[in-house]
Formats: sequence, structure tokens, C-alpha cells
Amino acid sequence: MTDPGAAAGPQLGRRALLLGGAVATAGALASCGAEQPTAPRPPSPAPFHGEHQAGILAEPAPAVVVASANVLAADRKELAELFKAITDRARTLVSGKAPTATGIGDVPADPGTLGPTPEPSGLTVTLGVGASLFDDRYGLAGRKPARLARMEPFEGDDLDPAWCHGDLSLVVAADSQDATLRALRDIARHTRGAMQLNWKIDGSTAPARPDGAPRNHFGFKDGTANPDAARPHETAGLVWAAPDDQPWTKGGSYQVVRLIRMLVEFWDRISIGEQEQIFGRDRASGAPLTGNAETDDPDYASDPAGKIIPLTSHIRLANPRTAETDGSRILRRAYNYSRGLDSNGNLDLGLVFTCYQQDVERQFAAIQRRLDGEPLADYIAPFGGGYFFALPGARDERDHLGRALLEQG
Ligand code: HEM
Repeated sequence: MTDPGAAAGPQLGRRALLLGGAVATAGALASCGAEQPTAPRPPSPAPFHGEHQAGILAEPAPAVVVASANVLAADRKELAELFKAITDRARTLVSGKAPTATGIGDVPADPGTLGPTPEPSGLTVTLGVGASLFDDRYGLAGRKPARLARMEPFEGDDLDPAWCHGDLSLVVAADSQDATLRALRDIARHTRGAMQLNWKIDGSTAPARPDGAPRNHFGFKDGTANPDAARPHETAGLVWAAPDDQPWTKGGSYQVVRLIRMLVEFWDRISIGEQEQIFGRDRASGAPLTGNAETDDPDYASDPAGKIIPLTSHIRLANPRTAETDGSRILRRAYNYSRGLDSNGNLDLGLVFTCYQQDVERQFAAIQRRLDGEPLADYIAPFGGGYFFALPGARDERDHLGRALLEQG
């Protein structure tokens, strides 16, 4: 079965979120008491309060920081305080409230990197929990999301323990890297002693060149075919926790993070024709090789032997568009990273691949297994990441992320 929403998805999703965000931001500014709102600000891209965390369906922002943290809280009460503190900071940062003024002898309330009156910067903060949080420290073993496990290596992985797993995940996305780093710094500062950052990677998306999805370091548009985030019937079965999962998980989503190095020195030595066969798409336009426009659906029916789009191409293996594989689709959010050089002087570039789904095994892991041994595998090297459960959203000013998880019952 094809994905009819894939073509229009990104644009529709963005618009819907922008409209929703304008209303919610006005509400948030009107109701803030303690800290002073500053003069007119652009709307936040998505409301902070709701059934779901806003960052999940939001289109990839220009900048992201993906981090993992381990919890140091002594007991469940302190864990609840930690969740409240993260929620409070995220709510404040997203709303763009001005930092409280301090005297010259005081420690500043804000690092100041965004100036004295920081803009909201289109910020979203998405908090997830890893399988390790459900060990014996906080008595949560019986509340582990039914489909949450520790990420195990796939074929071709060379996982570095320093870049894997964690009790928590934080995905902070915004219009600029200054804004993502300031938000992460603020959250880390307000949670000192209760959690410790474990690993962190900065990512970015390129502007449309000339249009459509942003390009990855291999020069291909990345993010074209995705379930339509604006269609609740689509996201209900693909993105949000299933009704038969732990009751508290309602509104949350399984988050997979994969840190994948892209071996650009090798890639830059092969022909465009070969590159396009590896992905199954035209590099310039992003169109599937059976079509003309980026948003055209690949036509596998008229190319059963893979003469035009090889059977081993990335898009054909990832989503064969059959009735049997329809339920394995994922909501992908990919960012480019650049981490300097490796010890041989080669560029360390790659993808911060994140995706959201209802069931990691049925979706991400099934796709990854289909991709095992694909021709693209010679040009990439996964080294980190983890599986997390992105918590249900905070419903209102009195609610906090993680409340349902910690509630007795
Ligand atoms: C560095 C690694 C990767 C690169 C460079 C890459 C690149 C791409 C590109 C260029 C496309 C086509 C455009 C688009 O629809 O977005 C694509 C599609 C896709 N990729 Fe990847 N990808 C990578 C890793 C992964 C991984 C790890 C998965 C999941 C296990 C994955 C799943 C998908 C899916 C599901 C599609 C859409 C296929 C369709 O519906 O037609 N990709 N990828």
C-alpha cells in the first residue's frame, strides 16, 4: 500500500502547528505571573501544553541538540522533583519569558547568550525515558512501557558505549544552535544533582535547496516520505502508544535515536548514477527514479524486477509500500551533524537519525533489519543512540512531564 499522505505531509504539518502555536502562545503569555513577558514576540512553533509533547510532530528545526542523561535522584520523590524542574524550565524557555532581572552582585538568571531579552526561537523540548530508568532504583519496574527495551546492536553497528543509552533523552530543537545550547544549559543548571548529562550531539537541517526536504551530507533530500503528521488517524496507529500499552503511556511515543557517521570521503568517489541507485531517488530533485517530482510516489508496481529503482535501494527496502509493511512506517526526524575530524584526519560527518513510532520492534527494528546489508551500508557507520519513550505531554500549567508515570495505580 502506498503512503498517500507522504507528499503533502510536511507542508500541512508545519502550517497546522504554526496556527496551533500562535493560539497557545498567546494563552501562555497571558497567564504567566511571576516572570515578565517581553514586548511582541513571534509565535512559538507549537504549544507546550497538550496530550503530546510538541516536538514530536514538529518539522525538523534548523538546529537540534540530542542528549542523554542519567538520573542521580535518591528516590522516587526526588525523581518527581526532577521531572517537575525539567517541565518548569521547558515551559518557561518555550514561552520566551524574559529572565528575571538580577542585581550586579547576583548570579545571572540566564547565560545571556541570546541577549537580555531572548526570543522564544521556535523552541521545543522533548523528554524521553530509557529502559534503565525502570530498574530497581525507583520502583518503576512494573510500569515500564510494554515496548521499551535497551537498544541492541544491528548488523554493521559499531556502538561506542560512551554514545549509547541513558535514563533520559532530551531533544531540544530551535531556530539556532545558540538557542538549543542555551536551553540545554538552563535545564542542566536547574537539575544539578538530580541528573547528569551522559552524551550530547548537535545537529542541524539545511535550508531547502532549492525546495522540499533539507539535504543530508550526501547531498540527497532527506525527510521526503513520512507519515502525514497532520492526520490524526495516521499518527494514531503509527506514532502514539497503543491502547494496549501501559495506561500511563497514552499520548507518548517510542523514540529511537541513531547516531550514524557518513563516510563522505568514500561517497565522494562514486558516480552520481551509483549514488542514485543506492537511494532510489534523483539527487537534484529528490524524485523517485520512477517519477519526476520529489513528492511523486515511487512506482514499484510497474518496476517489479527493480530495473529502475533497485530492489536493494534504500527507499525500496525501507518502505516497500506493500500492505504487509504499511504498519512498519515511522515518523523520521533527521539532522546533520559535524564533529570535526577522526584520528586519521577524515571528516566526521553524519546523521542524527531520530524517529517516533508506536512499537520499536514492529517499526524501526523491522525497517533496520530490511536495510541490513543494503548498498548504503558501505558508506555509513552507526556508532551510538538508544531507545527511549517520549513521555505524554503536560496537559496544563499544573501538570508536569512524567506525572502519569509516577502516579500510583
Ligand atoms: C546515514 C543514514 C541514512 C541516510 C543517509 C538516509 C537517507 C535517506 C534518504 C536520502 C531517503 C529518501 C528521501 C526521503 O524520503 O526522506 C531516505 C528515506 C527513508 N529512510 Fe533513510 N537514511 C539513513 C538511515 C535510515 C535508517 C537508519 C532508517 C530506519 C531504520 C531509515 C529509514 C528510511 C525510511 C523509512 C525512508 C522513507 C522510504 C519511503 O517511504 O519511501 N533511513 N533515507
